[in-house]
Amino acid sequence: MRRPAALLILTCAAAALAACGKSGGQATGSESNAGAPASAPVELTDAQKAALVAELPAPYNKGDVAHGKTVFLICKSCHTTIQGGSDMTGPNLWGVFGRKAGTEGSFKYSDGLKAAGWTWDAERVDHWIADPKAVVPGTKMSFVGVKNPQDRVDLIAYLKAETSAPAK
Ligand code: HEC
Repeated sequence: MRRPAALLILTCAAAALAACGKSGGQATGSESNAGAPASAPVELTDAQKAALVAELPAPYNKGDVAHGKTVFLICKSCHTTIQGGSDMTGPNLWGVFGRKAGTEGSFKYSDGLKAAGWTWDAERVDHWIADPKAVVPGTKMSFVGVKNPQDRVDLIAYLKAETSAPAK
C-alpha cells in the first residue's frame, strides 16, 4: 500500500512543481526582460559607429575600421572592449576615450600609469600603443608596440567605435 501512495504524492508534487515552475518562469522572465536594457551591453548600428569615428580628429577620423579590427587581434588576448567586459591581463577598454589613465574599475595598474594624470584621447592612445614602455617606464603592459603608423590610425578608429556609447 505504501508504494502507490508515495507514487501518488510524487505525481502530485511533480504536477504542482510543473505548474509552479510555469507561472514562476513567466514571472521571472518578465522581470529579467524589464531589467535587460540597463544591463545589456550597448549594441551600436554601423551608422552610429561611423558617427563616432567622424568625431575623432584627423587622421583618425579617416581610419579604416575593418582593418583596425584585424589589428586589434593582437590586443584581444589582454583586453575586452564591450561595456562591462571583464579585466584580463589588461583592463576592460569600454569608455577609454575620455577616461583618465589608470582608473578603470578595480584593475591593478602599475604605479606609473596610475600617476600618469592624462585623459586618453586618440593621440595619447596612438603614442601609447606605438611603444608603451617609452610612454610609461615600468608599465605592466608588456607589449612591443604597433610600429606601423597607419595600423595605429585604423586601430584607433576601430577602438573608438567599439568602446564608446553612441553620440547624443
Ligand atoms: C600582454 C597583454 C597586453 C596586450 C597584448 C595589450 N595590452 Fe594594453 N594593457 C595591458 C596592461 C597590463 C595594461 C595596464 C598597464 C599598466 O598598469 O601599466 C594595459 C593598458 C592599456 C591602456 C590604458 C588603459 C587605462 O585604463 O588607462 C590602453 C589604452 C591599452 N592598454 C590599449 C591596448 C591596445 C590598443 C593594445 C593592442 C595594440 C594593447 N593594449 C595590447 C596589457 C596588454
